[in-house]
Order: sequence, then C-alpha cells, then structure tokens
Amino acid sequence: MPDEPKPLTIPDLREMKAAGRKVTVLTCYDALFARLLDGIVDILLVGDSLNQVLAGHETTLSASLDQMIYHAQAVRRGARQSLVFVDLPFLTYQVTVEEALRNAGRVMKETGAHGVKLEGGEHMAETVRALVRVGIPVMGHIGLTPQSVNQLGGYRIQGRDRVVADRMRSDARFLEEAGASSMVLELVPAPLAAEVSRSVAIPTIGIGAGPGCDGQVLVLHDMLGLNEDFAPKFLKKYAELADTVRDAARCFAEEVRAGRYPGKEHSFE
Ligand code: KIV
Repeated sequence: MPDEPKPLTIPDLREMKAAGRKVTVLTCYDALFARLLDGIVDILLVGDSLNQVLAGHETTLSASLDQMIYHAQAVRRGARQSLVFVDLPFLTYQVTVEEALRNAGRVMKETGAHGVKLEGGEHMAETVRALVRVGIPVMGHIGLTPQSVNQLGGYRIQGRDRVVADRMRSDARFLEEAGASSMVLELVPAPLAAEVSRSVAIPTIGIGAGPGCDGQVLVLHDMLGLNEDFAPKFLKKYAELADTVRDAARCFAEEVRAGRYPGKEHSFE
C-alpha cells in the first residue's frame, strides 16, 4: 500500500507562501464532510458561520463556545491530513487576554484542533501574542469581520477609503509581528489585498479579496450550491447541489407514494 501523505503542519504554511504555493481552505462543520475534504484542501475551517449556515441565524454572533467545540470535535475525527482551525466565537476572546487563553485552551484540549481563528488586528495583537506564547497557533481575520457586522453596518467591502485601508495595512503587520500563522482577508478590494499580502511573510487567505492573496477560503455549503439565496459576486458555485438534493427527495417521495420503494432488493426475506 502506498504511504499516506504526511499531515500538513503549521510551519508548512509559511513555507507554502515562500514557495508560491496557494493555501486552500474550506469551511467544514462535521465529520462526514471532513472525511470527504481531508487531504484535498489544506485547511478545514470550523467557522462560526455554522451559526448561519446550519442554524439559520442572521449573523454569527450567537454561536457559543460549546457549539464550536462540538463541531470541531466532529471535524477533527474526520481529518487526518488537513489542518483544522476553529473560530473563537464572539466575546470568548475580546474581554480579557486571560479569558481568551482559557477559551482557546479549551478548544485545543477538547477538540485536538491545530489552531484557532479570531477577528481583529492591532487591538487583538496582545491576545494573539499570548496565545502563540503558550503554543496555540492563531489565524487572524481582518477586512470585513462578521462579528462586528453591527458596527460596520452590514456585510460590505472594507478598505475603499484611505483611513480603513491604512488601518488594514497596519493590522496585518501587527498580526504577523504578534505571531499569527496566517490571516483571512474578507471583502477587501483586490489591489489592497494584494498589497497587504506582499507586505507580510505569512499567508493571507482571501474571501472576496481577489487573486492576489496567498490562499482562498469559501464556505463549503455556498460553493456546493446548497445555499441558494446567497450569491455574492465573489462566490463561485462549483456544484448545484440544491437541485440534486430536491430531485432526490422528490424521487424518493414519489416512489414511496407509488409503492415502488422499497422493492424486493431492499427487503429482507
Ligand atoms: O466563519 C467563517 O466561515 C469564516 C470564513 C468565511 C472565513 O470566518
């Protein structure tokens, strides 16, 4: 039997950037999809977007640490080669550094994930430094930070004006200096995202941030075409599974009603 490929490690991420290899990331919330995606993409992100995608909430804000841990445990069970990162939910890391350490520590201990993701730049630098110091790899997240959607006034592109663009440039440097191993750039104009990406040695992972990022992330259910109402410009649907699911369900219902399922081949003597 051929040897299994080696699992990816955190230091590999920086090397990938140095070698010009793109980092691929998809969100993942359960063991079944984790098994399907493992080794195909570099990172499985247990995003707090699960609060919207799976639970039907408007925002990510009400996701809890226990929910994130439950889903991360499932994803980790299905992942052997890809790295698993877990979003720290709203208000589990912003209040004090101590609380952030305790909550991120729970994620690492209880799930076996490889790292955590948190939103914010300069004002999170101290927290990032403290997490990295105790050995917790951190993925930063700047640009549109969904946990601040109320403050930002909606899910809109960030960095079109000079003040916000300059802050993003310096946020990226703060994250890198604090020891983050990568950072998400969400909804950022492509030229600014490319400039920020060139300015740091750690990979930037774009979503709605153009091709100049060092990697790309999409929400799995969106790119599979399962989330029909969501069609922002940046999203490419690689499948149209909503139709497939509905067709299969319709077919099942028709066959049951017509007495065609189950047949002899599905029944026990
Ligand atoms: O929660 C999430 O899924 C995310 C990605 C969109 C980057 O943060």
